[in-house]
Amino acid sequence: MSDSVNVAVIYYSSTGTNTVVAKEIADTAERAGAQVRLRRVTELAPQAAIDSNPRWAANAKATADIEVASPEDTVWADAIVFGTPTRYGNVTAQLKQFIDTLGGLWAEGRLADKVYSGFTSSATLHGGQESTLLALYTTIHHFGGIIVSPGYTDPSKFTDGNPYGTSHVDAQGEKPVDDTTLKAARVQAERVVRFTRALKSGLVTA
Ligand SMILES: Cc1cc2nc3c(=O)[nH]c(=O)nc-3n(C[C@H](O)[C@H](O)[C@H](O)COP(=O)(O)O)c2cc1C
Repeated sequence: MSDSVNVAVIYYSSTGTNTVVAKEIADTAERAGAQVRLRRVTELAPQAAIDSNPRWAANAKATADIEVASPEDTVWADAIVFGTPTRYGNVTAQLKQFIDTLGGLWAEGRLADKVYSGFTSSATLHGGQESTLLALYTTIHHFGGIIVSPGYTDPSKFTDGNPYGTSHVDAQGEKPVDDTTLKAARVQAERVVRFTRALKSGLVTA
């Protein structure tokens, strides 16, 4: 039995919205007593595309010192919180590519019995946040993971309105991450740590 909990926050962000949320989740998990690895996934877009968008270029520069996720991070973790902007209502290719490198670990059953949760953002309201998180969670079912979503378990959830995971509408950079989204991130991170700790201390392995 162990009280220690390892949380990996593994995310992709082009223009920085999900970077802010990822950091809030990582900081909150750390304050809740977890060991935390904040990891960004490998960028797949060509440099010319990044350079063509000042916010994208700025985020790439600002996050260059965040370690790139490796499959070993998922082995280390008791809980994994994945973050991705929505792309046509779905997970980004960048995060999906990382997930697709986990096939060997999945085949060995090493992604099972962990806690998983997700966060996202979109440019528009009803722009595909829920479908993105549900698409992400489909993969978690294949892992045999335990999805810990926030639900409406805190009064603040009736303000942010997304029981599937933290989400933010950025209006293409016009609306930076605000207190409502940061609060949602904290609620989600605390819940992930709490349930991971409970699971770890109570789990009887076969
Ligand atoms: C190729 C592409 C597809 C997108 N698809 C959607 C979409 O379906 N709905 C939406 O509201 N925003 C969409 N967006 C906008 C981003 O999801 C949104 O700006 C997001 O908050 C960016 O997150 P980031 O700052 O962490 O990169 C799309 C952006 C791109 C580049």
